[in-house]
Amino acid sequence: MKFFIDTGNLAQIKEANDLGILDGVTTNPTLMAKEGIKGEEAIAQHYKAICEMVDGDISAEVLSTDFATIVEEGKKLAAIHPNIVVKVPMIKDGVKAIKWFTDNGIRTNCTLIFSAGQAILAAKAGASYVSPFIGRIDDSGWDGMELIGQLRHIFDVQNYKTEILAASIRNALHIIKAAELGADVCTCPLSSILGLLKHPLTDIGLAQFLEDAKKM
Ligand code: E4P
Repeated sequence: MKFFIDTGNLAQIKEANDLGILDGVTTNPTLMAKEGIKGEEAIAQHYKAICEMVDGDISAEVLSTDFATIVEEGKKLAAIHPNIVVKVPMIKDGVKAIKWFTDNGIRTNCTLIFSAGQAILAAKAGASYVSPFIGRIDDSGWDGMELIGQLRHIFDVQNYKTEILAASIRNALHIIKAAELGADVCTCPLSSILGLLKHPLTDIGLAQFLEDAKKM
């Protein structure tokens, strides 16, 4: 399973990248706004900085919702760097735009996926990735991981090439479950990635080893 970091924060991206386990980055308008990035030029510069830092796919989300403008925006985003993947929302014009991007050699990540039907449509349109939002499904009282399992089954049976990108990850357990269920990618906040490091027995064991090392 590939690891993406889900943030627009350059320091966090660098920290995850320095761990040597990072395969890419996802952003969204909320995450970019959090970093105070405003205006077309600043947005492009920020994506460029991320692309120069991480050697992997970088999802950059369109801000429009009609076919023609999504296509125009997506073309500009894709021109920033060859590693840019245009992130398109799961709406009717979004599906049309994904098909257009596919036909024109631009890779896409279909975002805001909450059902198998939506993922099937995106895969049929040729999306490179579909992003089911696990945490948000859990928040609404359903089991987000069930969707990952269902998508893995459908995509294998149908031989879809689209990669399943588990998104809206809230903790380390989400990452472990996504790996267990066969997600191709997991995009996570830095805190969830670092959460994988932790086990109390590791801390106790290391403290003991360091204590005993003094006797050596
Ligand atoms: C996916 O690419 C989104 O950026 C992200 O995972 C959304 O997660 P959230 O529910 O934590 O906002």
